[in-house]
Amino acid sequence: MAELYLNGEYLAIESGRVSVEDRGFQFGDGGYEVVRVYRGEPFRMKEHLERLRRTLAGIDMAMPQPAGGFEAICRRVLGGLQEATIYLQVSRGAAPRTHGWSDDLRPTIAAYARACSAPAPGSAYSLITVPDDRWGRCHLKTTCLLANVLAKQTAKKSGADEALFVRDGRMVTEGGSSNAFLVRDGRVVTHPATNLILDGITRRAVIELARAAGFRVEERPFTLAEALEAPEFFMTSTTIEVMPVIRIDGRAIAPGPVAARLRADYAKLVGRE
Ligand code: PDD
Repeated sequence: MAELYLNGEYLAIESGRVSVEDRGFQFGDGGYEVVRVYRGEPFRMKEHLERLRRTLAGIDMAMPQPAGGFEAICRRVLGGLQEATIYLQVSRGAAPRTHGWSDDLRPTIAAYARACSAPAPGSAYSLITVPDDRWGRCHLKTTCLLANVLAKQTAKKSGADEALFVRDGRMVTEGGSSNAFLVRDGRVVTHPATNLILDGITRRAVIELARAAGFRVEERPFTLAEALEAPEFFMTSTTIEVMPVIRIDGRAIAPGPVAARLRADYAKLVGRE
């Protein structure tokens, strides 16, 4: 059975308890990862752990070294699940509430898995644009997700699948929980991995696949106008993999061959690894 790892113990998922003064709860003071598991094997686990290390370094926390290591913990919480996501979170720990912290806090470490399934063949997303009003450290995968949560709820309420963040009314950055790509004239364009986006593990894999397939990949900012004129658009993440976009703010886009090719190549990559 799938279990919860919490600070050195293995428990039933619903019996985990964390202090109300945990800084993750009160301040969103922590980092997290979502790792996809295919046929019982975590995909690109090392890259996820390396990104968690970078996130924690970015909020002045050292990567904890739990007994046995994160990989073994993640395997154990799977409890035999074959198709799953593992949620891994590290917060700065619990202490009487005050904004500043002391360096002797014991981080709260939690990991658990949930069964999931791959996006249905032929599935596609509709997007709505929302102002990108997030802070300037979007490259860190922190649990401060309220701006993303509100953006995604706005999308949900309007019947869309995902929000597309637009900065200063002009530049497209990424999705509420995914990276954005446009395709035009054999070129695949995506925002560069700066502080304005999360450098997705899927994004990186798809860039490799696009190059291997002979497309020119341009990591550069692009405008909403370019996005709306692009013949093809798609989103990527650990959970949606490569997701063709068929609508942005009501403007229809045909699901195109490049996203279909990259979706198939991604499935092959997963099979190989
Ligand atoms: N989110 N951008 C944002 C803001 C994200 O939250 C995510 C992933 C991505 C894609 O990253 P990756 O390819 O490494 O999954 C981009 C996860 C899935 C989540 O919060 O559930």
